[in-house]
Amino acid sequence: MTAPEQIHNGKLYIETVGCQMNMLDSELVVAALRQQGYSLTSDVKEADTILFNTCSVRDHAEHKIYSQLGRLKFSKRARPNQVIGVMGCMAQKDQELIFNRAPHVDLVVGTGQLREIPRLVDEARSDRGRRIAVSLDRKEGSRDEVASSFESYDPARDPEMRPTPFQAFVRIMIGCDKFCTYCVVPMTRGPEQSRPPREIAHEVKLLAQQGVKEVTLLGQTVNSYKHTQDGKLFRLSDLLELIHDTAGILRIKFVTNYPRDMTDDLLQAVRDLPKVAQYLHVPAQSGCDEMLKRMKRGYTVDQYREMFSRIRQTLPTCAVSSDFIVGMCGESEASYQLSLDLIRECRFKNSFIFKYSPRPGTKAHDLWEDDVPEDVKRHRNNEMLDLQNQISEEDNADLIGSTFEVLVEGISKSAKKAQAADDSFVPQHSPEDAVSGPTQLVGRTRCDRIVVFDGNPRLAGSLVEVAVQGCTATTLLGEIVTHERQSVGMSLPIMS
Ligand code: 5AD
Ligand code: SF4
Repeated sequence: MTAPEQIHNGKLYIETVGCQMNMLDSELVVAALRQQGYSLTSDVKEADTILFNTCSVRDHAEHKIYSQLGRLKFSKRARPNQVIGVMGCMAQKDQELIFNRAPHVDLVVGTGQLREIPRLVDEARSDRGRRIAVSLDRKEGSRDEVASSFESYDPARDPEMRPTPFQAFVRIMIGCDKFCTYCVVPMTRGPEQSRPPREIAHEVKLLAQQGVKEVTLLGQTVNSYKHTQDGKLFRLSDLLELIHDTAGILRIKFVTNYPRDMTDDLLQAVRDLPKVAQYLHVPAQSGCDEMLKRMKRGYTVDQYREMFSRIRQTLPTCAVSSDFIVGMCGESEASYQLSLDLIRECRFKNSFIFKYSPRPGTKAHDLWEDDVPEDVKRHRNNEMLDLQNQISEEDNADLIGSTFEVLVEGISKSAKKAQAADDSFVPQHSPEDAVSGPTQLVGRTRCDRIVVFDGNPRLAGSLVEVAVQGCTATTLLGEIVTHERQSVGMSLPIMS
């Protein structure tokens, strides 16, 4: 293979939109390209290789990428060796259409073909020809044929692309077979397939050896995980037990859960395994039976309630979060009010709220008119968000005065911004000052609540005790609790 330096500058720019699965895919693609001599740049203008890792869940996310692509139309004139690639969900969904809408794109690579990217980038650069690598459509073959055309891509990891150096995503399954009527994911990510437990355990061990302290297991319906290895069936609860004692790992999380698969064995595993976060993201999507039926979610509101009360019984302090869609076709004011009722009843830690976006290729798009006007969708979205924020703030306020074990993620966003402003306008600080003084840090409790507090940035990646003194709807405000013996001993890194 030609060394990349010979025909281009080796600079790679990658932009990622969408879910954690996409963040992980980008990390893996960057790792593979780096092994071939590429280096990352955050400046699209200096890159000879530009990749967009895309999302198709809502129209808005696709729109954003097409306008980004539009802006690159003339950049190849200045850089004849430039390769522009579209990878991920939109690539699998739109395929050749991407070349029609953006003729300057060289590469289209679907979610199940990411392994091909390094080779295709080189090929496209050497002969200037277009390359497309996509998996079979769901109707193009038997389930097994389609499944084998989607490959779980899990090669070398790249620490620089992680949320922080000690937090990593680990894919435990790909695809989805639930076919909710509004959702494009079963088409863009293919059939549900679980990775072998042995491979996952090995990856977690490698990550721990690289200094990772927290792993988040990923799957579109992560609690539907099922894999038979050496004659034994592994469910998510078995997998959690398998990886739990990995040396160096302090926390284990998993997202996203499907309500119907929230079985008692899983709740008991969360209760009994101390490293597993007391946090469950279990999207309800709606609080109205008619809408749930139309969405083909596979449960009624009462069944969701029953699941929720089982969580509360087994895990009384566990935080639960949800997703809701507002303004799906056919959602009446009364249906929408029932969703608000469910939020009031369950008092979720937080909810992600989305305006319904019709997706071509889904049942809802093909069968029903998008009949809720945009301003109604917007109003419902804002009102629901206000309700959820009010609940989050009230429940956070109840935590004032309590102390939590917090995994420190690093410098908080606002402290980073302040530092950046400080660096450009007040240049008297040395870089050492920037990392050694007390700074606002951010971390999370075992229930996944965000906490900010002052401390030494070197605490990043360790567990500290934080006493909560205040809150907003999204954040707890606290102070590190220093115990005489611990602060000079082994368990806490040096603090200023
Ligand atoms: N429109 C709006 N929201 C959607 N989601 C999935 N498909 C759509 C759509 N067509 C939301 C669901 C899901 C989250 C990841 O995105 O709430 O849980
Ligand atoms: Fe989409 Fe439903 Fe699968 Fe979630 S469970 S990825 S909403 S089809």
